[in-house]
Formats: sequence, structure tokens, C-alpha cells
Amino acid sequence: MRTEEWVGQRLGTDLVWGVRETFLRYVEGVGGAVEVVSPAVRTPEGAVRFPLSRETSGQLEFSGGVAFRAHRGALHVSFSDPSLEPVHGAEGGALLTVTDTSTGSPARIVLATVDVAGNVALADEALALFDFQYPAGTALDPIAFADPLPGG
Ligand code: HEM
Repeated sequence: MRTEEWVGQRLGTDLVWGVRETFLRYVEGVGGAVEVVSPAVRTPEGAVRFPLSRETSGQLEFSGGVAFRAHRGALHVSFSDPSLEPVHGAEGGALLTVTDTSTGSPARIVLATVDVAGNVALADEALALFDFQYPAGTALDPIAFADPLPGG
């Protein structure tokens, strides 16, 4: 499937993403916290739902954020406003970019690459976000899309 079709099918929908299940379980398992920043909400299954805010030339922009904190503040991973930017060319797929808000100077980074099947792999630019605990290419949770919540 071409990227344009892949993205086009999903217009008007929210991004639902669990980031990485083992990471959520780890953070909550050591007594840390996973917090969502409005307008993102946590789904009953524990994933984060980011509402679509804008669509421009095939690029999907979502809003809201998520923060993971544990180990008395030593672990702080947070990002906001994910966006899916189509990759043009033979392989297609998309880049998942976010604003890294875990440092004093928030910056836009490529968090992951998404292939046409929806597989999500950690990008080089995001290694520091996870304090180099995961190698590049680490599988993150697959992304999914859902109709907006009533009133959302
Ligand atoms: C006081 C500091 C820390 C301690 C004692 C600690 C301890 C641990 C332990 C014991 C595990 C293995 C968990 C398991 O497999 O069940 C782990 C995994 C991990 N830690 Fe930490 N950690 C610390 C700081 C950090 C920081 C600052 C980060 C930054 C993001 C981090 C990110 C991770 C990640 C990504 C994993 C792998 C989770 C997975 O299975 O996907 N940790 N840590």
C-alpha cells in the first residue's frame, strides 16, 4: 500500500498508542507514574489516545502528551504532540515525530519509524529520550487508530 493511501484511510481519527508495553509495566511496577497531558487520555487498556488536531498534505498531527516518572525523579521520559509524517518513496511508511519535553529545552525529534504494516521501531534520534536503555530499532508498540470519542 502506498503511503498516501495508508495515511488517507485514517483521516479524522485519534492515534492510540501504548508506547511500549514493557516500559509502562516497568515504570508502574517500580511505583512510578504514567501521566497523560490533556487532551490526550489513557484508554482502559492503558494506552494513550491522542486526538487528531490537524491534517496537512498527508501529515497527521495529534495533540496531548504523556510523562513517565520513576526512581524518585531519576527516570523522566515525556513527550507531546505526536505527528505522523509520510515517507515518500519505495518503502513508504511514516515517521513518528514528537516534542521531547523531558529536558529543559523541548525539541522536536523523530521518535520512531512506522512501516506500512504499522510496525514501530525506535529511531536513532530518540535513544537519549530513553537514556540509551534501548538500542535503535527496538520494537515499540504498534500504532492504532480509533474514531474520536463522543464530544472529543
Ligand atoms: C535509580 C535509577 C534506576 C534504577 C534503579 C533502574 C532499574 C531498572 C531495572 C531493575 C530494570 C529491569 C526491569 C525488568 O526487567 O524487570 C530497568 C529497566 C529499564 N530501565 Fe531503569 N533504572 C533506573 C533508571 C532509569 C532511567 C533514568 C531510565 C531512563 C529512561 C531507565 C529506563 C529503563 C528502561 C527503558 C528499561 C527497560 C524496560 C523494558 O523492559 O522495556 N531506567 N531499570
